[in-house]
This record gives sequence, C-alpha cells and structure tokens, in this order.
Amino acid sequence: MSAKILDGKAIAANIRQNIKKRVQERIAAGLRPPGLTVILLGNDPASRAYVRNKRRACEEVGFKSLAYDLPADTTQSQLLTLIDQLNADSTVDGILVQLPLGKHIDPERVIEQIHPDKDVDGFHPYNIGRLTLRLPLLRPCTPHGVITLLKTTEQDLKSLEAVVVGASNIVGRPMVLELLLAGCTVTVCHRWTRDLLKHVSEADILVAAAGKPHLIKGEWIKPGATVIDVGFTRQPDGTLSGDVEFEAARKRAAWITPVPGGVGPMTIATLLENTLYAAEQLHN
Ligand code: GUN
Repeated sequence: MSAKILDGKAIAANIRQNIKKRVQERIAAGLRPPGLTVILLGNDPASRAYVRNKRRACEEVGFKSLAYDLPADTTQSQLLTLIDQLNADSTVDGILVQLPLGKHIDPERVIEQIHPDKDVDGFHPYNIGRLTLRLPLLRPCTPHGVITLLKTTEQDLKSLEAVVVGASNIVGRPMVLELLLAGCTVTVCHRWTRDLLKHVSEADILVAAAGKPHLIKGEWIKPGATVIDVGFTRQPDGTLSGDVEFEAARKRAAWITPVPGGVGPMTIATLLENTLYAAEQLHN
C-alpha cells in the first residue's frame, strides 16, 4: 500500500479563499475587517518565520494586521500592559503572543491576561475548559486544524483508536480533547510512556507531536492507519524532519501528512478561522 497524501497546503488554501470571500462580504456590508495583532519578542529565527507567515496570511485574506516586534528584554509587566490596551481596542478581534517567551516571562500569566474572546490561539484556561466540557468556542489552532484535515478523509472518526504522541499544552493535550470530542478512543503517550511501540502499533489515527525527528519508525504503523505528523524540526543540513519516518510509514498507512505542507498550513488557516469567528460571533 502507498498512503494517500493529506495535502494540508491545498486544503488550507481553500479555507483561506473562503475566508477572503467572507471578509469582502463584511466590507461590502459596511462592517470593519477582522483584526489580528501578533506580538513577537526577540529575534528567534523560527519564531520570526512563523510570525511572518501568520501576518502575511492575515493580509492576504484582508484582515487588519497589527504587528508588535518588541525587544527580547521587554518585561512581563510591559507585555501585560500592552495586552490590556489591545483587550480594550474594539478594532482588535484576536491577540496572539508568539511562544516561547524569554525565561524572565511566565507564559501562563501572559496567556491569562488575554481576554478569552480575543484568545485566537485557544490557549486561555477558559477556552481549554470550554473544550474539555464539550462547549468549545475558540479552539487551539494546530489540534483543530488536524481535525479539519481528518474530516477531509471522510472516515467516521467515532470509535476509532487515536494515539497522540506528546503532551504539550500547545498540541498534545488539546489534541486529546479534540479527538475525544470527535468520538475517538484516545491514548496519550509522553516521556514516561513505557512501551511507545505497543501503543503506536494499535493506532487507527496517529498524531505525532513529540518534536523528536523520526521517533516513530515506519514499521510501527498499523496497516491502513491515518498518520498525522506535527513534528517540524530543522536539521543541521537545513532540511525539515517530522516525528515519523515518512517513506517507511507511507508504505503501511492509508493516509499521511507530509512535512512540510501537512499540518503547518492548517495551523495558520485555523488561526484565520478563529479570528473571523471572534469578529463575527464574539465582538458584534
Ligand atoms: N509557538 C509554536 N506554536 C505556536 C502557536 O500555535 N501559537 C503561539 N502563540 N506560539 C506558538
């Protein structure tokens, strides 16, 4: 078997096209464009690249994009003051603070300062709590983008065995909640898991989000599985590696995401969806 490719780049382009149309309809109806503010501290090259892509995507669909590029030594108190100003600004629908932040800043404290209705990353404890209770509003972008990808395979997700590898606040934990909401039986593996192979080999849906290149061997994949690779590690030679051995996994899976061009574009498309949702449903 050679797996079909889950083409996140093409699916995300389609979502962005639909968002652009809805923005044009808003403007034709005399409404303001949705506004997204992206805050970046410091000069980390990977964070700069992510932020550049997010801002560009915003502008392409016609959102108002506000950019704050702050020095690495910005204090937590300065950052919280800026967030307060943006919380009070009625032209701002979404506030995103790019992570990670410097060691002198507590990311949880910063996320809690963002008004939950403007938390387009879906990281605020209020939004995570809503997702936990099956009452989602703003949902974490990468996990929800993965669900959008899975839906394009037209499988009935109910009752499938889903295995998530990685338990980060940004991807693994909310991914578990999303898959549970979709009706899967969910297992989460993490650094203390004793037998990773055993769990992975039973997965109908595997979401690899450990950030460890080629952690998941191709021969572990259950024949016919759907493999979603959230890993995105730049190697010393400049190439990007996922968490899964792509070529070997492809021979066993039914569906697989490439790296790059799989999950990454879906994260940005979901961020745009969240911002439009905030403008249309939460701030009118
Ligand atoms: N850093 C890595 N991924 C993300 C994300 O989805 N949102 C934010 N704010 N920072 C990140």
